[in-house]
Amino acid sequence: VKAGPLSGRHVIVTSGPTHEAIDPVRYIANRSSGKQGHAIAAAAAAAGARVTLVSGPVTLPDPKGCAVVRVESAREMFAAVNDALPADVFIGAAAVADWRVEAAAHKIKKEQGASAPAFSLVENPDILASVARASRRPRLVVGFAAETRDVIAHARQKLNRKGCDLIVANDVSEGSGVFGGDANEAHLVSSGGVESWPRMSKEAVAARLVGRIAEIIADSEAP
Ligand code: PMT
Repeated sequence: VKAGPLSGRHVIVTSGPTHEAIDPVRYIANRSSGKQGHAIAAAAAAAGARVTLVSGPVTLPDPKGCAVVRVESAREMFAAVNDALPADVFIGAAAVADWRVEAAAHKIKKEQGASAPAFSLVENPDILASVARASRRPRLVVGFAAETRDVIAHARQKLNRKGCDLIVANDVSEGSGVFGGDANEAHLVSSGGVESWPRMSKEAVAARLVGRIAEIIADSEAP
């Protein structure tokens, strides 16, 4: 066990995109690289936590000192997170697909003269909301909000709707370079208010977030 402010704690982090199969060769995805979530997992491990990182498909190396569970779809991520519970802290940094299609068993063929296929979407389980309402709820549940406008207002709504303790809101509008990039500008939203951080590397966001989490846990245990 590594000494540090989170030693003896189990932290579950989700990271990366999910891939939702259309058929055996095609999928729907998003632009998440996993950089932010992986940096958080590494920072939590460096702070002494036992870390389970549940990661969608990314090209990053596994962060040092973390148990990594690799998944593809939102439903697989949901199952892996439930298998990893109980935990002291859950941090949902993954860009989980809100919807999936009912995947075809065989490759959809392009037939001469046929019209383009149409897909109807089915809602995926909401991992964050489910963890926040679980009977084995971690003491601290932290979500992200990726927004392109009204960042703080939408983050506040997500905090309440999903039942979490903290939301890390980030602006992912075109030109922000947050999806896939190396830097992030985060706002920490809780029922107590908003703390806005300047733009910094994703590693620095991770270290600061893990530091705040350790403080919140220590405060909640103070006599
Ligand atoms: O991976 P990078 O390239 O480093 O980019 C980082 C990031 C932009 C992906 C990351 O900082 C971020 O914002 N992650 C959350 C992306 C997202 O899907 O946000 P959302 O606002 O759609 O979802 C809100 C929260 O609910 C998130 O914590 C998400 O993990 C969670 N969620 C959403 C849908 C779902 N079905 N299950 C979930 O758990």
